[in-house]
Parts: sequence; structure tokens; C-alpha cells
Amino acid sequence: MIVQDTSVFAPDSPQARAIERLFYFDLAIAAVIFAAVAGLVIAAVVRFRYRPGAPLPRQDEGNPKLETAWTIIPALILTALFIGTWRTMVFVNPPLHGRKPGMVVTAHQWWWEFRYPHSGVVTANELHLPVRVTSLLEVRTADVIHDFWVPDLGAKVDAIPNHPNYLWTKPSQTGIFLGTCAEFCGNEHALMGIRVIVQEPAAFSAWIQSQLVVPATPTNGVAGAGAKLFLTRTCENCHTIAGTAAKGTFGPNLTHLADRETIGAGVITNGLTNLTAWIHNPDRFKPGIYMPNLHLTESEAHAIAVYLEGLR
Ligand code: CUA
Repeated sequence: MIVQDTSVFAPDSPQARAIERLFYFDLAIAAVIFAAVAGLVIAAVVRFRYRPGAPLPRQDEGNPKLETAWTIIPALILTALFIGTWRTMVFVNPPLHGRKPGMVVTAHQWWWEFRYPHSGVVTANELHLPVRVTSLLEVRTADVIHDFWVPDLGAKVDAIPNHPNYLWTKPSQTGIFLGTCAEFCGNEHALMGIRVIVQEPAAFSAWIQSQLVVPATPTNGVAGAGAKLFLTRTCENCHTIAGTAAKGTFGPNLTHLADRETIGAGVITNGLTNLTAWIHNPDRFKPGIYMPNLHLTESEAHAIAVYLEGLR
């Protein structure tokens, strides 16, 4: 799948397009005001500049026509800006009218959890959405304030403790859309990437079904050894893997880790070598990360990586 141009100037949803239109509308008004004010200042400087012996220019005080004009014109400008903003807000963030969100985004220091309440699927950092379908996302946080922002798909949405916010989006084409956390949230704020994978509805349904499959736990070989290590070396305290005793929720759900393209909220690509290095010392890729260095040997880290890379 292609990674789409990530930019507020290349919107890929009606919601993001509405925000772009509002931006250009406000920019045009600001440009006219700038040109008028700058033009008048320049005209005044040139025409009325000091000349030796010249009389003072005509003094205009208490001119009712002028004062009425410069009260009414700004009032009209502000009214136009207000109407534009209000219309955009109503379109981008309409009332829920009892609709339940199809996706629940929970921001964590420093990764994203994505839950699909209708099916029970839980994944991390890579959000799948159907194309040409209006999705409603609920945005929450498990700790501090974060901000979910995928510029192509719509508004920035703050993730505020104990106050769910909502994002409506109707992606207009398939592909991978990149986003990031847009509110400073600690050490790794800059390494809190979002990948949104927009698929045809049939492919999206197939993906949901694939995520519901409980992967078999290997019992022998390197993968079997890795599974044992995973369940005995405290990994399971923070991570969940369906079909095993691992039920932790502090870190990302790893049930289908091998399906993801990246590790650590987008910091490195997913693969055996990278995953082994990550398990060995996650701090190397994400300084300050809450995932501890468990001081595993190279072969232990490798075995766990082999196990996790088999989870499809
Ligand atoms: Cu999360 Cu910034």
C-alpha cells in the first residue's frame, strides 16, 4: 500500500477538506486586511512625510462617517469569520445522536491503543479504517494529555483524562496515512507516530476477522522457547497475547504483532532483527521508554522475537 502525502494541504476526507477551506477563507480575509493596512501605512508615510516648512496635514477628529465605517467593517469581518468557523465545526464534529464509536483510541505515554468495540479487536499504533465509510473514533488517554492528529483525515483531537472527545472521518482513498501526537506529553512525544491503513471495506472486514483469530502458542523449537520466556520473564505483566496467560494492558497488545509494519509507535520497521534489538534494549530506540531493559541474553531476546514474529 502506498503512503499518501501527509499534509494539511492534501486533505483526503471531507472533514479535512472543510478545515482546509476554512483555512483558505481565513487566510484570504487576513490577506485583504494586511494589504489594506500596509497600503494605508505606506501611503501615509509617503504622502504626509515631514517636509521643512510644510504645514500640518488636515486633522480629522470626530468624523462620524469614518468612525462608523471602522466599527462596522471589522464587525462584518468578525461575523464572517465566526460563521465560517461555526459551519466548519458543525460539519467536522456533529452531535453524536446516540451513535456508538466504531473505534476507541487510547493514548499512552508513548503509543496508541486502538480498540474496535463492535468486534473486540485490540491493536496498537496502526489503525485500520474502511474507505468511503464515515467512521466515528472516540479519543481517550490512559495518562496525560495527548492529541490524535492525522492531518489528511480531519481535525486534531485532544486526548484528555476522563473526557472522551470524538473524531469523524470519511477517508476518500485507500493507502497509508501518517499522523502523530500533537500535544507535548513527555520525553517521547516526538516518537508517538500513528499509521492509519485505509482499506476497501471488504479488506477491512477481512482484517477484522484475521485479528479475531487466536494464534497457536508454539511449544517447541526456538519459538516455543521464546513463548516460555515471554510468559516467565515478566513480559506478560504489561502485554496481552490472546490464547496465553499474558493479560497485561500497560503496553501494546501483541496478539498479532507480526501483522504490523512498525515497532514502538513507528520508530523502527517490524522484522526479526529489529524486534530482537528492540527487546534487548528498547531504550536505544526510544530513550525514556517505560518498557524496561530486562537484561536478556542475545539468544533469549532472539527467541522471544522469533515467537512474536510468528503471531499472525
Ligand atoms: Cu503523546 Cu505527545
